[in-house]
Amino acid sequence: MEYRLAGTKPNPWPGRLPWPPAFLLHLGGSARERSQKAMSEQTVERGHRCFAAAWNWISIPGERSLGKRIRRRLLGDLEGRVLEIGIGTGHSFTYYPASADVVATEPDPHMLKRAQQRLAEIGKTNIELRQAPAERLPFDDASFDHVVSTLVLCTVADQARALAEALRVLKPGGTFRFWEHIRNDRSGFWGRSQDVIRPVWSWLGGGCQLNRRTKDAIEAAGFRIEWLEEDTRFPLNPVIYGVARPG
Ligand SMILES: C[S@@+](CC[C@H](N)C(=O)[O-])C[C@H]1O[C@@H](n2cnc3c(N)ncnc32)[C@H](O)[C@@H]1O
Repeated sequence: MEYRLAGTKPNPWPGRLPWPPAFLLHLGGSARERSQKAMSEQTVERGHRCFAAAWNWISIPGERSLGKRIRRRLLGDLEGRVLEIGIGTGHSFTYYPASADVVATEPDPHMLKRAQQRLAEIGKTNIELRQAPAERLPFDDASFDHVVSTLVLCTVADQARALAEALRVLKPGGTFRFWEHIRNDRSGFWGRSQDVIRPVWSWLGGGCQLNRRTKDAIEAAGFRIEWLEEDTRFPLNPVIYGVARPG
């Protein structure tokens, strides 16, 4: 099965890291930022073959401890129609209860292929895979009871647009469940360190921006945070997780 988005060209150099490296595009002002955003959108549709191959391994330590606890808490009680954006290789799949009717989306064809393999292995029939970026969700307004995002808002090309889409497809009483890493504003040293290494980190990490203020962005998009917890044990990578509702 092919997972290419309509209107995109196949990657002529599969397996290569994106060129020019995104960090070269971070060096200037708004024109460069726009061009970087456009580049990120193209890149995610082409996919990151190396990062997709590495993600299962990179994420093993986090998934065994923090990830297991957070995913259980965020996903364990879900019922009704659920949308997950940017599912990657499908770490969430095993945590969805049978009461959830899940549509799992992912724009990167290499991630999607791995997610499909995982889904076939675990044999769950209440999860459907779709190829789509979070900024352009192919779903009707108010068509989901819950939207889930884990470690995705750091990577989407346009965070405000992705959050606006999440809000659009959510039913009025629905929940937005998130686990994201954020800029460390509690420590000047670590926050600035994140700013400095961001370009190279992004190039190696499939476009991940480790210094986004995602809690502020969730609220600015029109969500009201119901509960939120923060884990700052890793100062280069502090995370927040919680539940928000359309405000
Ligand atoms: C760090 S991985 C996390 C994967 C998964 N959510 C997890 O928790 O294991 C980031 C994911 O975001 C996806 N992504 C990147 N840009 C995206 C976009 N514009 N819309 C949706 N997902 C995107 C990547 O392809 C990748 O699968």
